[in-house]
Amino acid sequence: MMIVEGGRRLSGRLTVQGAKNSVLPILAAALLSKDQCRIRHCPRLRDVETAVEILRHLGCQARWEAEDLIVDTTVMDRCDIPDELMRKMRSSVIFLGAILNRCGHAEISYPGGCELGPRPIDLHLAALRTLGAEIREEGGSLQCTAPHLQGAEIVLSIPSVGATENAVLAACGAEGTTVISNAAREPEIVDLQTFLCSMGASVQGAGSSTVTVVGKRPLHGCDHTLIGDRIVAATYLSAAAAVGGEICLEGVSYGHLSTVTTALQQAGCRIQCTPEQICLWSDGALRGVSPIRTSPYPGFPTDAQAEVMAALLRSRGTTVFVENMFENRYRHVPELQRMGADVRLEGRVAVVCGVEKLHAAQVQATDLRGGASLVVAALQAEGITKVTQTHHIDRGYADLAGDLRALGAEIRVETTEDEVT
Ligand code: UD1
Repeated sequence: MMIVEGGRRLSGRLTVQGAKNSVLPILAAALLSKDQCRIRHCPRLRDVETAVEILRHLGCQARWEAEDLIVDTTVMDRCDIPDELMRKMRSSVIFLGAILNRCGHAEISYPGGCELGPRPIDLHLAALRTLGAEIREEGGSLQCTAPHLQGAEIVLSIPSVGATENAVLAACGAEGTTVISNAAREPEIVDLQTFLCSMGASVQGAGSSTVTVVGKRPLHGCDHTLIGDRIVAATYLSAAAAVGGEICLEGVSYGHLSTVTTALQQAGCRIQCTPEQICLWSDGALRGVSPIRTSPYPGFPTDAQAEVMAALLRSRGTTVFVENMFENRYRHVPELQRMGADVRLEGRVAVVCGVEKLHAAQVQATDLRGGASLVVAALQAEGITKVTQTHHIDRGYADLAGDLRALGAEIRVETTEDEVT
């Protein structure tokens, strides 16, 4: 549980952790090399622990050296991911393309629905089938065989991040050239490309809608520094915007955050970006902004919707949010309402009418980013707010409470026995 006393301004400087959504596919990619990879600036997160558990289950080794994670994939003696690990983290499915590439077969269980609503993997499977994989779905388990992957043209009907990554990982082991059209353009896919190229792979075009992979290159270990986590940065900027103060964030590229910084500027914050840092000044008196519609990168990130919404709860005026990526991504709203927020929901639309003040309450994190939004709201609320079920937050923030404390927030973590972990 996190205990937050609202009303403190935030000020200071922080280095943002490495990106969660980069490190997960990169840990899967490490399987392609039969060698050792050093991943620098690696955040210690629950989801990273789960990915490490998967690697160890497969027979590989992983160890920490300060902030670096060193993965040795010389030995890999299994090609399956047990159901329990698939359930812990939906993105375990990104290992499928890498395991198929390395072993020629793979067995995973079907990742179920998650807290954001149904998240199908049909595009992942279609992409792997296009490369020649045979995939049988039997009662929740997926039996995949691909003795000879063959380069092909893959057209994604939606620019899915995970499907693009799975296709790239499998294509590195395919004979000839693969061209992925309507690929997702997220910065984390560029980071995956950088990692694979450092291993000796031929991957080009990440960051654009067409990614080209020439397969069967001999791969070796490498040393890679992760990009900074743009969603963690968006969370801290939202927090400082809401309570007022001045903060500077280092280690994250401002180009990756432009839709979020534009919204916060429109709300009344002053933001200055250089290649080294993003600085934000706010007097804590924000105004409503033009409609925020989530969409694939470079659009407004769905992962920042809840945090920016929390920042605008006390703004003057009204802001409309339209969530286009996931069906069930407003589960934080009833919790925010407990704190006095005026947010009306209708399907994919949420309308935030700013209120004068928020008050403390006991609220429950229901998912990772929704949980972070409750903390952003609690920092502005009068009194002491308790946020429970914070294991959701630990999936993506290495130390949310510690970072905010370093910026001057009054926040502490208490471990309670009744919390589900
Ligand atoms: C990734 C991010 C997640 C972010 C999301 C959207 C990681 C580890 N996770 O998730 O934080 O919220 O991108 O930016 O990088 N879809 C299908 N069929 C599929 C795959 C996806 O219909 O086979 C749909 C999804 O339901 C969703 C949309 O495509 O509506 C985008 O999802 P996708 O880009 O695949 O998200 P993830 O890779 O799961």
